[in-house]
Amino acid sequence: MSENKLDVRGMDLFYGDFQALKNINFSLAKQEVAALIGPSGCGKSTFIRSLNRMNDLIPSCRITGEALLDGEDIYGTMDVTELRSRVGMVFQKPNPFNMSVFDNVAYGKRMQGLRDKRRLAELVETALQKAALWDEVKDRLKRPANALSGGQQQRLCIARSIAMEPEIILMDEPTSALDPIATGRIEELIVELKKEYSIIIVTHAMHQASRVSSRTAFFLLGELIEYGDTKGIFTNPTDKRTEDYISGRFG
Ligand SMILES: Nc1ncnc2c1ncn2[C@@H]1O[C@H](COP(=O)(O)OP(=O)(O)OP(=O)(O)O)[C@@H](O)[C@H]1O
Ligand SMILES: [Mg+2]
Repeated sequence: MSENKLDVRGMDLFYGDFQALKNINFSLAKQEVAALIGPSGCGKSTFIRSLNRMNDLIPSCRITGEALLDGEDIYGTMDVTELRSRVGMVFQKPNPFNMSVFDNVAYGKRMQGLRDKRRLAELVETALQKAALWDEVKDRLKRPANALSGGQQQRLCIARSIAMEPEIILMDEPTSALDPIATGRIEELIVELKKEYSIIIVTHAMHQASRVSSRTAFFLLGELIEYGDTKGIFTNPTDKRTEDYISGRFG
């Protein structure tokens, strides 16, 4: 069996008649950060959404091929709620729930039935520490999450995801709504989180991909054109289309 955390083989995805992903082959190792790049509309969000079955909510969406998490088919008998706790997601725009800082982070575990106050408190503290937010919020855990700054809110969303003890964290342009300082903190955090989690990050910033990822995948019009060592992709791509994109000739 493959050692990969994630293995995608020959995945096709359709929205009605429109084919948004074409024969995608992709893998992610344990404790690896992979970056997805490519022009707007090429299928990056569609692809990561397929990995925790967010596309299930779209009636016209149809997927064929294989997506394996630890060798188990994501689209097989796996329970979707379980899948989403194993494969977490952080979105472009920070989306804290309309509740306190503490309740945001505790939310998922409470939904799973955890009631023990001490364990919840420990879990929340650990998640906030891992998300590099604890020091800033430890005295305002009961305050509304919406009162945090944008960068803090995004780290809170990362903490909320970490609290579920996921194996993979999907991040869809997690810093595009943030200023450079907040962005830098999230990038440092990603490098730190890699010690424990596998991460896929969608980004439009190539310097971000090169700072945080070991491998980079270039998508174009629903195809995965090239996937390889990040340094190689940026300095010596094998496909002309990758080269054109990274040198800014289109996209
Ligand atoms: N729910 C949907 N129904 C129909 N078509 C969709 C749907 N969501 C996305 N698409 C189409 O699928 C293609 C890929 O979209 P997707 O959002 O995955 O691109 P993207 O690479 O994430 O782009 P961006 O960089 O702008 O976020 C686009 O042509 C888009 O219009
Ligand atoms: Mg997108």
